[in-house]
Order: sequence, then C-alpha cells, then structure tokens
Amino acid sequence: MDRIFSGIQPSGEIHIGNYVGAIRNWVQLTERYDCIYSVVDYHAITIEYEMELMQKRILETATILVACGLTPDKCIVFVQSHVPEHTELAWVFNSVTPIGELERMTQFKEKSKQHRQNINMGLLGYPVLQAADILIYKAGYVPVGEDQTQHVELSREIARKFNTRYGETFPEPKVLLSTAPRIAGTDGQAKMSKSMNNAIGLLEAPEVIREKLRSAATCPHRERRSDPGHPEHCNIFTMHQAFSKPDEISGVEQGCRTAGIGCIECKEILYKNMVEELGPIQARVKEMNARPEYIVDVLKSGAAHCKAIASEVMDEVRRKIGVKSEWL
Ligand code: TRP
Repeated sequence: MDRIFSGIQPSGEIHIGNYVGAIRNWVQLTERYDCIYSVVDYHAITIEYEMELMQKRILETATILVACGLTPDKCIVFVQSHVPEHTELAWVFNSVTPIGELERMTQFKEKSKQHRQNINMGLLGYPVLQAADILIYKAGYVPVGEDQTQHVELSREIARKFNTRYGETFPEPKVLLSTAPRIAGTDGQAKMSKSMNNAIGLLEAPEVIREKLRSAATCPHRERRSDPGHPEHCNIFTMHQAFSKPDEISGVEQGCRTAGIGCIECKEILYKNMVEELGPIQARVKEMNARPEYIVDVLKSGAAHCKAIASEVMDEVRRKIGVKSEWL
C-alpha cells in the first residue's frame, strides 16, 4: 500500500473547518493507504504560544483525531517530537535547501508580517521540517489544503536535491487535495479560524452551535424572507453540503431559490445534521478524557511504530551523506 503522511498543529481548538476539510478526509484515506498522522508540536513553537497550554493542546488534538475515527486499528497517530528523527533529518535537509526558496513561501511572508517582532529561523525553516516529516517515512502522498501545496512542492524539490547530491533515496511526494466543500467562518467571509472569532468548535455544546448558526451570515442577496436566495453564495449551504444528506441538500437548495423556506428553517435542518454527526465524536472525546491512559498508550505505540521506520531511514541518510561508516 502507498503511504500517506499528514500533520496538524496543536494550536487551539479544532473547528468544523478542520474536520470537514482535513480530518474526515483522512479517515476515508485509511481504507486505501498506509496512513501516518502527526500532531506537529515542533511546528507550533515557531510563533508565540502559551507554553503552559501546549501539553493540553497536544493531547486534545490527538484525542480528537482518534475520536473522529483515526483509530489505532486504521492508522498511526503520534506526536512529532516523540520521534526526534524528524528534526534530525530537517537539519540534513537544511543543507540542500536554498534560502531563496524559503523566503518565497507565501506562508513565511504572511507570518513574517503577523509576527514582526519574532521572525526566527524556525519560521523560515518550517517547510524544511515539514519535508522531513513526510520524507522520513518516504511517504508518496500528502493530503493537505490548498494553502499547503506550496510546501509540498518544496518537499519535492528537497527530495530531488537530496537524491541528486547523494543518490536515489526519497520519493517525490504528491499532494492529495481534498474535494470537500470549503467552509468559511460564521461571518461568511474569512477562512474559519479561532483567532478570527468566526469558528464553530468541534467540541462545542449543541446550544452554542445553534446560537452560532443562528447569527451566522447567509446569502447576502436575500434580505427578506420573500426574496429568492442564492445557495452558491451562502456559507450555510456550503455547510449543508458538508453535513446533510443528498435529498436534504437538494431540498434546501430548491427551497432557498424559490423562497420556499427561510434561512431560519434552513439553519434548523443544518443544526440537526451537524449535531447528529458531531454528537458521537463528542461522546468519544468525553469517554477518552475520562481515562487519559488510553490516548497516552495510543500515542506511545504510534511513536514506537514510527520510530522503527524513521531510525532506519535516518541510518540510511547518515551513511549516504558520509557521516556514518561501517566501523563507527
Ligand atoms: N504545515 C501543515 C499545516 O499547517 C502541518 C504539517 C506539518 C504538515 N508537517 C506536515 C502537513 C507534513 C502535511 C505533511 O497545516
């Protein structure tokens, strides 16, 4: 089976955008690929963060992944820093990565603007560590969102540069773009993100979700109940596409276009479907939180599995670059 690698940062609360855009897709991929998913804590320290909360966030993120269906019988879930070979390989990759390429990265440019007071090497080298994450497992496919395709492209280039200099070692990983609908924030405009205060958290209580949906932006062209709406411009309709069944989706689409149903009713249907899907996930998170040893065990055995692969590849790398000889 072809191998997949992807990572998620342990930064704050996971929202339905992360779930629909990434995690739910990751679960499906476990059926056809050998999948490794990582909570990438070393990536998260490249910007300011709350140190006291890091542990909690790492565990919460891992718990959510497992509760969403990334269970140990289907795939590997582990924490990046538990397998130090990632950072070791990143150092080797630093020596084949042109700085010019890193400075061109859109995410680096954006983050440098947001964090002017701390433009550090980690921020610049972020994609190098990402390349190491993927290539330490020789993964061929990387499911990510549009915003990460540039980084995966760079991983391909790093693999190529390494192979040219040291001999064929790494595959050139390919992006697997998710076909999931892209949900905007509850403002209907910006990308959903906790810091924008427009997110619906995966673990939020039904009443909170209902209230957020109630006040969420809809089709901007529909001012009165009697106006026909335009589902293609409505973020609530996008959410329907992510959470509702096909017949309900066509029902609300039809109803909206003909002003047959109003936004309140449309949101009620969405609310019901959303809570139906999130309910079981939230229940599993609760169960897992009640016995924290479980997630710790999952992460420990995940790291052991990864370590076995990573240490072998790292050994191959050490030999190829000439730092390790037969007799040392
Ligand atoms: N940079 C990715 C993001 O912010 C997270 C990530 C780190 C990742 N390492 C990875 C994704 C390796 C895919 C593969 O979303």
